Amino acid sequence: MVFGSDNAPISSRPWTFVTGGLGFIGSHLVESLLGDGVPVLALDNLDKSTYNPMLRLENLSILSKLARSKGTAFRFILGDTHNRPLIKTIFSANAVGCIVDLAARAGVRPSLLDPVGYIQANVEGFVSLLAEAKEAGVRKVVYVSSSSVYGNKPGRFFEDDPELNPGSPYGMSKLMAERFFALYARLYGLSGIVLRPFTVYGPRQRPEMAIHKFLNQLLHDRPLTIFGDGSMRRDFTHVLDVVAGIRGAIELSIQPGVVQTYNLGTSHPVSLFALIEALEEATNKKADVRLVPAPPGELFQTWADIKKAREQFGYCPKVGLKEGLSDFVRWYNKRVNP
Ligand SMILES: NC(=O)c1ccc[n+]([C@@H]2O[C@H](COP(=O)([O-])OP(=O)(O)OC[C@H]3O[C@@H](n4cnc5c(N)ncnc54)[C@H](O)[C@@H]3O)[C@@H](O)[C@H]2O)c1
Repeated sequence: MVFGSDNAPISSRPWTFVTGGLGFIGSHLVESLLGDGVPVLALDNLDKSTYNPMLRLENLSILSKLARSKGTAFRFILGDTHNRPLIKTIFSANAVGCIVDLAARAGVRPSLLDPVGYIQANVEGFVSLLAEAKEAGVRKVVYVSSSSVYGNKPGRFFEDDPELNPGSPYGMSKLMAERFFALYARLYGLSGIVLRPFTVYGPRQRPEMAIHKFLNQLLHDRPLTIFGDGSMRRDFTHVLDVVAGIRGAIELSIQPGVVQTYNLGTSHPVSLFALIEALEEATNKKADVRLVPAPPGELFQTWADIKKAREQFGYCPKVGLKEGLSDFVRWYNKRVNP
């Protein structure tokens, strides 16, 4: 099913094909591209297994309005990356210049309950896409992986770390997809980019993610359940900084047959306690915190080294946690009381 084809302006530039284009990060990326007049083909299967598909339809409405107001070509295709005949048709009917793959089942904890489902969604889906990209001669592919591939490590996480030990089936599925990507690039001369974002937050964030869940609990006077003793640290990164990183990476020129990998974080990890304090400040409310044992798979810290992205495409995160949380609280309140 295709939306937007009737009145989408004819595109003279190649399309950027964004899979998972109605999700949290995907919808921000598509918004940024359309805002700058870049034609976008977005694919999404409105996956029910992670969160309410209606939220993706709200994103579709925002993106369709923006495309109309900017006069930028935009098409949404309801479909799955596993559907090879569909992907083949998309590539044969449209000149695609670059693929950005964000389609995945995200999240550490749900992956412990359904490891096989995560491998099917995150590895097989990406490999199907790569196989069709190769057949269609699409040479540039950006794969959005995750900081979860690193596993538990002290200090900063470096892209060239030879010892990646994911702590969850989710992290493992992203690492397997990365490895397959490197093989395919080598075999068939694709120019590959792997991006590893670190705990992304901001408007439209997935409802089960920590910041969204904590804010919901705080504003409804419910206790906040914190894993461990609150000292667990995350390199929380605002979605607009991640989108700027993806856009920088899209413009990179990569040698055929090579995959380059970049972290997209802030390099300023924050403890869960510090996060709660910042949320209290942003909402002017006091949290009732309950500590619970951390489930398996949770990393004690994440900390991005971002020198490579800064040097090679000028990646420079701009949104600090305080400002980012205020922005998130504003969006949340507006959504609840439009
Ligand atoms: N949010 C984060 O903190 C974070 C951090 C690191 C990496 N990532 C990665 O970024 C990507 C986007 O994450 P998000 O937080 O926006 O999640 P999301 O669930 O909001 O977005 C993923 C989108 O992909 C769609 N989708 C899933 N499987 C699909 C398939 N087989 N075919 C077509 N569409 C499919 C879903 O319907 C959803 O809209 C994922 O690959 C995730 O692993 C996210």
